[in-house]
Amino acid sequence: MLIALGVTGGIGAYKAVEVARGLQKRGHEVVAIMTASATKFVGPVTFEAITRRRVITDQFESGANSDIEHIALASSIDLLLVAPATANILGKFANGLADDFLSTLYTATRAPVLVAPAMNTNMFAHEAVRRNLDALAARGVRFVDPGEGYLACGWIGKGRLAEPDEIVAAAEAILRPTGTGPAPREAAASVLGGRRVIVTAGPTYEDVDPVRFIGNRSSGRMGFAIAAEAARRGADVTLIMGPTAVEPPAVRDVVKVRSAADMHDAVIGLADRADLVVMAAAVADYSPVERAAQKVHKAGETLTLVLRKTPDILGELGRRRLAAGRGPVLVGFAAETERVSEQAEAKRAHKHVDLIVANDVSRSDAGFEVDTNAVTIVGAHGAEVLPLMTKTRAAAEILDRVERLLAGSPAATRALRN
Ligand code: CTP
Repeated sequence: MLIALGVTGGIGAYKAVEVARGLQKRGHEVVAIMTASATKFVGPVTFEAITRRRVITDQFESGANSDIEHIALASSIDLLLVAPATANILGKFANGLADDFLSTLYTATRAPVLVAPAMNTNMFAHEAVRRNLDALAARGVRFVDPGEGYLACGWIGKGRLAEPDEIVAAAEAILRPTGTGPAPREAAASVLGGRRVIVTAGPTYEDVDPVRFIGNRSSGRMGFAIAAEAARRGADVTLIMGPTAVEPPAVRDVVKVRSAADMHDAVIGLADRADLVVMAAAVADYSPVERAAQKVHKAGETLTLVLRKTPDILGELGRRRLAAGRGPVLVGFAAETERVSEQAEAKRAHKHVDLIVANDVSRSDAGFEVDTNAVTIVGAHGAEVLPLMTKTRAAAEILDRVERLLAGSPAATRALRN
C-alpha cells in the first residue's frame, strides 16, 4: 500500500527514517514529505535513499505541479502518517490551514490519518494543543501517543516521539485491521493468533495507611511492550497492571489493580483459561501485616513496620500446572545484579516456569524507567544473552521464543488450522 509519511521539524525526525524502513519491510511504498523545518533536522537525501523516491519538500517546486501533485497524491495514498508531528502541524491540521505541501495534503486527502506527536512536555499539555488534538480525534484522526522520559530539551516528561516499531504497528493496524486485506507475514505465521494471553505490568502498592504505601520504581513499560506485541500478533490480551503514570497500550482488556493481593486474585481468576501468562509486573514481595484505618501520626524516634510475604503468583501458577499436568506457558521476570543467568535458572526451576527473562538492573541503560533493556532469556535449553535493545524489540524477542514453546500445543494447532 502507498503511505505518505509526513516529517515535521522535531528532534525525533531522525526516527522517521526507521519508520520508513519499517513500513517498507512490511511491503508498503513510502513517499516522504518534509516540511521546511524538518529539513533542518534530517536531510531529504536520507529519505530519498531509503524510499527510493523523490522527497517532497516544497509545494511550489518546479516540476511538482504538472499534475497538481498534492491532489494526485491525496487520492492515491492509503494512509497519511505524520511522524514526528509538531504542535505547529497539529494546529494547522486542526484549523484547516494549508500553507505547505503537508498541510494541503491533509485537507485534500480522504485517506485515514495517523499522527505521532512529539514536543516539549508543557507544549503537549498546553490547552491550545490539547484542543487541537481533541478536534482532530473527533474528526477520526488516530494517534500514536508520545512516550515519557528525558526529552532533548532537557525536560523529563511526556513528549518524546513514540518508538518507530510502535508507529509502524499502529499504521499496520489501520491498513490491515484483523480479518481484512492480505495478512502481514508475521500475523499469518503467528502462533499467538487467537491465543488467550495474560500480561502483568507495573509495580504494586502495598498500603501502610490511607496516605502511605510501599511501592517500587517499575514503570510498566516492559509489560506494556509485551502486551502490545502479543496483540499485534493476533493474541487476545488481558493486561493486568499496577499503578503507573505510563499509558497502557490498547489491548482487549486492561484490568487495573493496586496491591500484590489484588494482582494475585486477578491473575489466578483468569489463568485457567489462558494459553500464556507473562508476569512482567514488579510484584511486592512483602506487604504490611496491618493497614492502619487512620493516618499513622509520628511518635517515637523509630518506627517498626511488620511485613508479611505476599503470595508468589508465578510460583502458584507453576505449582498448579505441575499438579494438573497441563496449563499455560509461564514466563517470569527476574531483576538481578550479579550472576544473572545462574540466578535466573534457579528461579526458573524453583517456580516451575518455562522462561525467565532476567534484567541486569545494575546497568543504567536497562531495567526500570528507561526504554531500553538488556535481557538474558533462560529456558530449558540454557541462557541466551541478548544485546541492549528497545523494550519493543525485547518484547518481540521474548514472544518469538514463547511462540516456539506454544507451537506444539493443541490450541496452536487449532489457531493455525483456522
Ligand atoms: N512474582 C510474583 N509474585 C510475587 C513476586 C514476584 O508472581 N509475589 C513474579 C514477578 O512478576 C516476576 C518473578 O515473580 O515474574 C520475580 O520473581 P522473584 O522471586 O520475586 O524475584 P525478584 O523480584 O527478582 O526478587 P528476589 O530475587 O529477591 O526473590
